[in-house]
Amino acid sequence: MLVSASANVLAERKVMNLKTWEFSRDQAQWETVQVPHDWAIAGPFDKKWDLQVVRIEQNNEKKATEKSGRSGSLPWIGKGWYRTTVNLTKSEAEDCAAVLQFDGAMAEPKVFLNGEEIGGWAYGYNAFRLNVTNLLKEGENKIEVALQNLEESSRWYPGAGLYRPVQLVLTDPVNIDPWTTYVRTTRLGDGVDNHGRTEQQAVIDYETHIQGVRGEGADVRKGVACVVEILDKQGVFQTGSHFDLPADGIITTQLTLSKPNLWTPETPYLYKVRTRLFRNNKLIDETLTPLGVRTVEVTSEGGFMLNGKTRKIKGVCLHHDLGPLGAAVNEAALIRQIKLMKEMGCDAIRTSHNMPSTMQMDICDSLGMMVMAESFDMWIYPKVKNGYSRFFKEWAQWDITNLVLNHRNHPSIVMWSIGNEIPEQGDKNVGVEWAQKLQDLCHKLDPSRPVTQGFDRADAAMGSGVMQIMDIPGLNYRTNKYDKAYKNTTKGFILGTETASTVSSRGVYKLPYKVNNRAVYKDGQCSGYDNEWCPWSNLPDVDFENMDDLPYTIGQFVWTGIDYLGEPTPYDEYWPSRSSYFGICDLAGLPKDRYYLYRSVWNKDEHTLHIAPHWTWGKAMVGKVVPVQVYSDYDEAELFVNGKSQGRIRKNKLVNRDPQGNQLTGTEVTAPNRGSWDTPGNTAVQPNLDRYRLRWMNVKYQPGELKVVAYDKDGKTAKTEVIRTAGPAAKLKLEPWTAGKDLKADGNDLCYITVTMTDKNGNMCPTASDQLTFSVEGEGTFKCVCNGDATSLEQFTKPTMKLFNGQLVLTVQSTTTPGTMTVKVTNGKGITETIAIATK
Ligand code: GAL
Repeated sequence: MLVSASANVLAERKVMNLKTWEFSRDQAQWETVQVPHDWAIAGPFDKKWDLQVVRIEQNNEKKATEKSGRSGSLPWIGKGWYRTTVNLTKSEAEDCAAVLQFDGAMAEPKVFLNGEEIGGWAYGYNAFRLNVTNLLKEGENKIEVALQNLEESSRWYPGAGLYRPVQLVLTDPVNIDPWTTYVRTTRLGDGVDNHGRTEQQAVIDYETHIQGVRGEGADVRKGVACVVEILDKQGVFQTGSHFDLPADGIITTQLTLSKPNLWTPETPYLYKVRTRLFRNNKLIDETLTPLGVRTVEVTSEGGFMLNGKTRKIKGVCLHHDLGPLGAAVNEAALIRQIKLMKEMGCDAIRTSHNMPSTMQMDICDSLGMMVMAESFDMWIYPKVKNGYSRFFKEWAQWDITNLVLNHRNHPSIVMWSIGNEIPEQGDKNVGVEWAQKLQDLCHKLDPSRPVTQGFDRADAAMGSGVMQIMDIPGLNYRTNKYDKAYKNTTKGFILGTETASTVSSRGVYKLPYKVNNRAVYKDGQCSGYDNEWCPWSNLPDVDFENMDDLPYTIGQFVWTGIDYLGEPTPYDEYWPSRSSYFGICDLAGLPKDRYYLYRSVWNKDEHTLHIAPHWTWGKAMVGKVVPVQVYSDYDEAELFVNGKSQGRIRKNKLVNRDPQGNQLTGTEVTAPNRGSWDTPGNTAVQPNLDRYRLRWMNVKYQPGELKVVAYDKDGKTAKTEVIRTAGPAAKLKLEPWTAGKDLKADGNDLCYITVTMTDKNGNMCPTASDQLTFSVEGEGTFKCVCNGDATSLEQFTKPTMKLFNGQLVLTVQSTTTPGTMTVKVTNGKGITETIAIATK
C-alpha cells in the first residue's frame, strides 16, 4: 500500500452499504435479496424445524418432552450462503485503508474475499470488523459469507442470515477509528463561566486512536492535524480543540460544555462530536459521534441516578425479533417498538439476552430510551445443547470487547449485562472467576457504566458470592428473595432484571375468572384478564408493590414488552403454539389489556382509563357473571351496565379480597404482599389485585353498554369510557401508522396498518376471525401480516390472514418512487376497504 504522506486518497471516508446480495441454501440455486435479510421468516411453519426433545432445567422440569415451538418452528436451521460484488477504482483498492464490518450475522459467519477466507466470528449477535486493507483489487471484488445454524442452539427464534447491515468502509490510510473513539460525560455540576459567574457545566472526556500512524515514520504524520469539536443539535459549534498527531496516534482531551442540554428519556438531546483529520489543511477523514450529556450512577443512598436524579427504571425486556419481519432489522419497525413502549410510560429496555443492533441503539439515543445492553444467555454450561457455551471460553472476552467498543458512545445505554440466568451463578470458582473477569473487562473498556447480570437462583448466587460481585445485583423474579438479596449484597439496592412473566392472549377472556399460575386450555390461549402466570413468575401487581414499597428497589424490566417468536410457555409442548404469550403487546405489536395496566402506573403524563373484557358475548352468557377490570391512574370509579350502577369502588392497598375477588372474612390481611404467590417456600403470600386494578367481580352480562366513570381525588368525574355490544360485522377499519410524518420513498420504509372489523356503528367485533386478503397497487408493496395469534400457522409473508379477535396488523413497504399506494383489504364476502398512502 502506498502510504500517502502528501497526496490525499479520499476527500472523506466512503461508507458503502452492501445491500444487494445473492442468497442460496445449497450453493446451486441463488436468489437476489436485500440485506438486512432473514432467510427463515417466510416459513412455512413446521414443528419439524428444530424440534427439541429436552428438559428445560430453568423451569424445574424433571423429564425431557417434545418442545415443538421453542425456537419458532421456522426454517432457520442449516446452512446459508450470501455473495455480492463491489467495484473499486485502482486508488480505492490500492491506496485506501479498508474495513468490512458486520453488525451481526446469524450465525458462525465465515467471510471470503475474492475466494480467500479472510475471517469470521462465532456469535451470531455480535458486530465484528475485518481489516481488508491490501486485500482488495481494482475492478470487481467478490465478497462471500457462509453461515450455519445448528439445531438446539437457541431457546428462542434467533433468525438466520445477514440480518443486520454490512458495510465496506474506505478511508485514507491515516484515519479515525469509531471503535477507539470514546466520548463520555465525566462531570456534571457547577462551574465558572468566562465572567466568573456560576453556571452548570459538563466535562466531556474524549479519546481516539488515529489509525495508520503507529510504527510508521514521522513523514506519515507530517501536515496532519486532528480537530475535535462538539456541535449542538443544529450543528452549531460549542467547543473544541486542535491537535498535531502524536507518534502513537492517541488523542485525549477534555472539553467543557457550558449550560448543557442534558440527555434523559424525556429530553433526548443529542450533541455531535465531530472528529476531523486534515492533511495540509485538506480534509481527509471525518466522523460524527452522538453525544448525550448525561451521567449514570448507582449508590446506596440514591439508587439509580441519571444526571444525579434518582429514578426507578420502568423497563421491559425485548428479544431482537420484529415479529413478522423476523430478525432482519428495519428502522421503522424499531421506531414503532420504541414509541409503543414509551407511550406506555416505559423508559428502558433490556436487550435480552444478547448484543443489540446499532440501528436500535441509534433509535434509543434519539427517541429517549434507556438500555441495558446484554451479552450472553449462557457461559460454559449449556442451556441448549449447541448454544454459545461451545464458544464461551475462547470468545467471551472478544464478544464483550466488541459489544462495548461498538456501543459505548450510545447515551441510551446505562448499564451492561454480562449474562442472563447463567448456570454458573452458584459456582464459587468458575462463576466468581468469570463474573469478575467480564465485569472488569467492561470497566476497563468503559469506566462510565455499571455492570449487572440477572440471577434466577438467588440463594445460590448469594451463596457463591457471584451476586455480591456485581455493580448491580439483579434478580430475575424471586420477589420473595428481594429482602434477603438486599441484605446480603451490601450495595444497598436491587434491580429486578427480569419481572412478571405474566401470560395472556390479546382479546381472550377465560371464564370463570381464575387467578392461576398453571392454566392451560384446549385452544392454546391464555386469559386476557392478566390473572395467569408461571410457577416461577408473578403478576405485574407484585412488581408494582415492590417498586412502590421497597426503597431499595431501583427498577424492573418486565418479561416482555412485546411477544416474540419461540418460547410459547405455558404451551411449550402444545402444537401449534410457536410464539410467546409473555408480551405486554402481542406479536403484531397490538397492545393487550396489560399494556393499559402498566400505562396506568407508569405513564405520569397522560390519564389511562381502560375496560376489559369486551362486551360482546353470546346469548348463552346473558345473565352470567363476567367480571370487569378497569385499568386507570384514577383510584376510584363507578361501573354501569346499561345505566345500572355496579358499584363505586376504590383501589385498595390492603388485602380484603383474595385474588379471585372473594371477600375475605375476619380481619383484613395487610401488606406486604411482595412475594411471588406460588414461589416454592412462599405459598402463604397472595397477590393483592385490588391495589392497582379496579375490579367488579360479580357483574352479570347484559348486552348493551358498559360504562366506567373515573373520579379524581376530590371525587369529581374525571373521565368516562364506554364500550358497547357489537352488532354483525359490517366494516373494516384501516388505521395507518408511519415512523415519520410521511412514508419515505426509499424502498425500505414501512407503514403499519391496523385492521379492525367493526359493526355498522364502528364498534369493534371482538371475536371476528374473517379470512382477509390484501393487495397493494401503485408505489408500495405488501411486506407482511401478523394477527398476534401464537397458534397461527399462516405465513407472515403471504397476503392473506385471519383476523384474531377482530384485529390484525398489515405491513406495507414503500418503493423508491414517490407517489401513492392503494391498499385494499377484503374478507371476500362483501366487506372491503381501501386506503391510499402517500410516499415522499
Ligand atoms: C426467564 C428467562 C427468559 C425467559 C423467561 C420466561 O427465566 O431469563 O429468557 O425464558 O424466563 O419466563
